[in-house]
Amino acid sequence: MLIIMRHGQSTWTDKSVNRFAGWVDIPLTHIGIQQAQHAGELLRQSDIRPDYVFTSLLRRSIVSADIVLDAIDRSWLPVQRSWRLNERHYGAFQGETRPAMLDRYGDEMFATYRRSYDVRPPEIDVNSPYFQGSDPRYSDSFSDGLDDRDPSLIRSECLKDLAERLQPYWDSRIAPLLVAGKTVLVVTHGSVVRAIVKMLEQVSDEAIRSINVPTGVPMAYSFLTRADGSLAVDGRGRYLDQQAAERGMAEVSALGRAPR
Ligand code: 3PG
Repeated sequence: MLIIMRHGQSTWTDKSVNRFAGWVDIPLTHIGIQQAQHAGELLRQSDIRPDYVFTSLLRRSIVSADIVLDAIDRSWLPVQRSWRLNERHYGAFQGETRPAMLDRYGDEMFATYRRSYDVRPPEIDVNSPYFQGSDPRYSDSFSDGLDDRDPSLIRSECLKDLAERLQPYWDSRIAPLLVAGKTVLVVTHGSVVRAIVKMLEQVSDEAIRSINVPTGVPMAYSFLTRADGSLAVDGRGRYLDQQAAERGMAEVSALGRAPR
């Protein structure tokens, strides 16, 4: 079983701030902490206990996972972390407010930058305070050897770019555990969840535009193993709190609309 969830609300996805974060390492809000606690409660009530845990290298994902594990008495589990589970790099949008970008690019282009499959936002300036540049978590010494991508050089990503840098990690670190029948918890970011939903449910490049991911609501996927040992997803992802998920998706969508 796969339990995948976006981190709890972060300080920049609070509608009073409403800034694009991407790889900027911002913390959770108190609401985000409560959402992660509720997510842990949902796993506990569903009697779901992960065997393996994965997070990105960003604190909103790391801290959300720690809170969930604490709620199910699994704080002792080792956690595997990778930049490949980071949010999409939002390029020059990082640090900018959504209303300002909506105003600059107009409804259609703004929606395309936010939710299209293969259109990247403008690249971030390497001198921007929001460029990851020499951040030690992305330096060579942390290279995972899965391919020759250097995360310290990434200056903008579309969802397709994210899917391509995620794929080798999914294939080598996560899928084998699912094939072995393990329960895997991945606490990550909205665009990573969208990329995994797209892959598992074969969502088209066009239909993925309409998928928003709520903060802090776990989604469960069950799997079957084919005769050749490959993985087959058994149905669609199921949010463990459908009402909270629908509220959260509406909030995410509203962040991208002009303030009233
Ligand atoms: C961010 O990176 O700012 C958010 O996690 C995703 O923002 P979006 O919902 O506007 O894509």
